Amino acid sequence: TRDRPDALRTPIVAVLGHVDHGKTSLLDKIRGSAVSEGEAGAITQHIGATAVPLDTISSIAGSLVDPDDFDLPGLLFIDTPGHHSFSTLRSRGGALADIAVLVVDVNDGFQPQTEEAIDILKRTGTPFVVAANKIDTTPGWNPQEGEPIQVSYEAQSDRASSRLDENLYEIIGQLSDSGFSADLYWRVQDFQGNVGVVPVSAVTGEGVPDLLTVLMGLSQRYMKDQMAIDVEGPGAGTVLEVKEEKGFGTTLDVVMYDGTIREGDEIVVGGMGDPIVTEVRALLQPKPLAEIRTEKRFDRVDSVAAAAGVKIAAPDLDDAMAGAPVRVVRDRDRELVVADVESELAEIEVETEEEGVVVKADTLGSLEAMANALVEAEVPILRAEVGDVAPRDVAVASTAAEAEHQVILGFNVDVLSNAADELEESDVRLFHDDVIYQLVEDYETFVEERQR
Ligand code: GTP
Ligand code: MG
Repeated sequence: TRDRPDALRTPIVAVLGHVDHGKTSLLDKIRGSAVSEGEAGAITQHIGATAVPLDTISSIAGSLVDPDDFDLPGLLFIDTPGHHSFSTLRSRGGALADIAVLVVDVNDGFQPQTEEAIDILKRTGTPFVVAANKIDTTPGWNPQEGEPIQVSYEAQSDRASSRLDENLYEIIGQLSDSGFSADLYWRVQDFQGNVGVVPVSAVTGEGVPDLLTVLMGLSQRYMKDQMAIDVEGPGAGTVLEVKEEKGFGTTLDVVMYDGTIREGDEIVVGGMGDPIVTEVRALLQPKPLAEIRTEKRFDRVDSVAAAAGVKIAAPDLDDAMAGAPVRVVRDRDRELVVADVESELAEIEVETEEEGVVVKADTLGSLEAMANALVEAEVPILRAEVGDVAPRDVAVASTAAEAEHQVILGFNVDVLSNAADELEESDVRLFHDDVIYQLVEDYETFVEERQR
């Protein structure tokens, strides 16, 4: 018997990769809009989510996808800006995304944020495919607008196609150096043990039918069981961003991965201090194929079922944290839900010691990733928190006994102006970067130089 499509949720697909490798452009192509053109310098400022219904996928994929073969409702894409760590996208015990697309510029190959993404995919065990993007920039390329990759290959000169092949094998080699057996996707039989590489162009749309086909196939084949949820049950999600919104105050951009959230629901949200208990005042959702971070006029909706990106307006959200859980209480005992959120936050709590460095990060997930990297580098942590660098952090850092620990490591955070003054007057050194291992490396270099 065939499952009812409405009992299966939409798989969540994270799109990640190095800055400028074409994540947003690829989604634009799929959406048929051009979000990136409205962006300052084509840099994505925020995380957004885009739902692409099965009908749209099958119309793009043409003969490659027959909607009758699928009972998943579509795909929910989450765009992650290059400067932002994919690690925000967490959920209890792992990754929020069911599956990921790692976008790699076919000319540039692996870059620092590609490596970082690979590490996190490995750690969380998230299945992924590689979109080898910008194939249209291959010298002598003869573009075949929107065509599947095989059609496109046939139209190329030997020179252009072997040039592309060289680049593709370079990427396959880099994947294998990172511990993943990989091949061009049409040669992959078992997508669980091997990473498929899909050549694409976000500009000409070549290979995009293939990419969508592979993603649908992967989800349908390996993840259908995971997608069977109680859509009517109390909702669960992860905060992507805490944001001021005109007329609504502080709001949360959330990806719901389970159940339903309704207007008026009591919710529990992970915060800087105790979990926040509040009531949903409004649920704002972008229209299908629209983009949560650029769509100004949201639809106000009564309820939202997983999986979906939604903006939640509610009182008392100022202390909510990106990366933290959101839970609907509904007919459960509120205290149990609060305890549940607390225990989930405790899972992420970083081991701190009497002596060490101060760590600040923009989200819970990135704090966790930073802490992991520091443990690996055998750097002790005195305090680790989400948020911008504040005067208190400078005060705490200056209490470290050893000079090499009188340090603040900031990942993707700002320095509050009064903290900047205090920094200048103290011996505390600040390191910041938006690539975790760069930050750790800079700090290690500093320690080595001191020891000389
Ligand atoms: P961040 O969000 O800043 O990390 O970048 P991104 O990965 O989203 O890259 P984006 O889509 O903004 O693309 C970066 C630049 O590459 C833009 O100028 C795009 O027009 C260009 N670009 C993206 N994909 C392609 C492609 O397939 N072919 C060509 N020729 N250019 C592309
Ligand atoms: Mg982008």
